Amino acid sequence: RFGPTVQFLTQVNLVILLLYGGHLVSTDQLPLGTGLIVFAGLLQQFSNQVANLSSLAGTIQQSLTGARRVLEVLDAEEEVAQPAKPWIPTSVTGKVEIQGVWFEYDNGTPILRDITLTIEPGQRVGFLGGVGEGKSTLLSLLPRFYDPQCGVVKIDGVDVRQWDLTTLRRSVGLVLQEPLLLSNTIAANIAFGNPNATADQIREVARMAAADAFIEQTVDGYETMLGQFGMSLSGGQRQRLALARALITNPPILLLDDPVSAIDPETEHEILAALKTAIQGRTTLIVASRLSSLRQCDKIVVLNAGEIVQQGTHDELLGQPGIYRDVAIVQGFLPQESVDSIQESERLGGARR
Ligand SMILES: Nc1ncnc2c1ncn2[C@@H]1O[C@H](COP(=O)(O)OP(=O)(O)OP(=O)(O)O)[C@@H](O)[C@H]1O
Ligand SMILES: [Mg+2]
Repeated sequence: RFGPTVQFLTQVNLVILLLYGGHLVSTDQLPLGTGLIVFAGLLQQFSNQVANLSSLAGTIQQSLTGARRVLEVLDAEEEVAQPAKPWIPTSVTGKVEIQGVWFEYDNGTPILRDITLTIEPGQRVGFLGGVGEGKSTLLSLLPRFYDPQCGVVKIDGVDVRQWDLTTLRRSVGLVLQEPLLLSNTIAANIAFGNPNATADQIREVARMAAADAFIEQTVDGYETMLGQFGMSLSGGQRQRLALARALITNPPILLLDDPVSAIDPETEHEILAALKTAIQGRTTLIVASRLSSLRQCDKIVVLNAGEIVQQGTHDELLGQPGIYRDVAIVQGFLPQESVDSIQESERLGGARR
């Protein structure tokens, strides 16, 4: 952005050199030989400094853009406020209660309609739903990126609006649908939520997220730069890094927003294996469009038009008509005989109607 200005300044340099230098020489204030060369050298240095400054400004600008995007996610300040008497728990077990929650964005269309759901500490709950059904919105109510218009979200029995905001957000680890990475080192990207993290802690969460192997293979390991002027990562690598970042505060609650959506089936397998270790002992809410990510969950919740339309285990939901079984058929999760008999009985049902 400052490039053209710098080029212009360099031209100006030459003009200054000729005019002012010429003036000094002609008025005998500067000896023609060495004096002019020293003067030219000074001007040269000056223009180098300006060039440095401008590239620094460019870097700062990029960092600011990156930081602003991250802060939008982390702060969402204009939406919610720190309570007057913030609740700071001594320990968090990770029980989640969503009670009668209605939510709409500014445009007035209800996105979540009367959602009620209790999740016990350490439970894994999966969410299935079509595009734009409000899955990400529901997750975003836990760390209070938004507050619902009606109803209440509680963690460990306390309304999240009573929680100290920093404690709340450190207790809820979040892996976004499209993880944001900073133009910084791998270590800094992982330590983002906990700048005091030690090198050992960073390595430990990387191991948990199955990211250590690929990190150690990069040129500078944990000091490898990412982003525009650094290394770019594959979708699976980004997800694992985002997972490591979410784990750095050792959160009792983990929110995974479609962590394998943009990933090929082979890498999906690796991510799911990594997740298995990472979610150990944490309450986990996982949004997924593939049943391979959902079938292991203790409970699966199906959202449709902002409402919970089905809940149960993988096997329970396969045994009843509904969205889950339809998706299972499309994704090849039912043996062909079962599909045939379901289609047969539906045809009979249709004929009777
Ligand atoms: N910040 C926002 N302001 C206004 N509307 C929004 C905002 N974020 C999401 N929406 C709308 O709310 C609805 C639910 O969005 P949400 O992202 O929660 O859906 P989703 O189930 O996560 O979808 P996807 O499967 O695409 O991730 C959508 O119609 C979306 O357009
Ligand atoms: Mg979403």
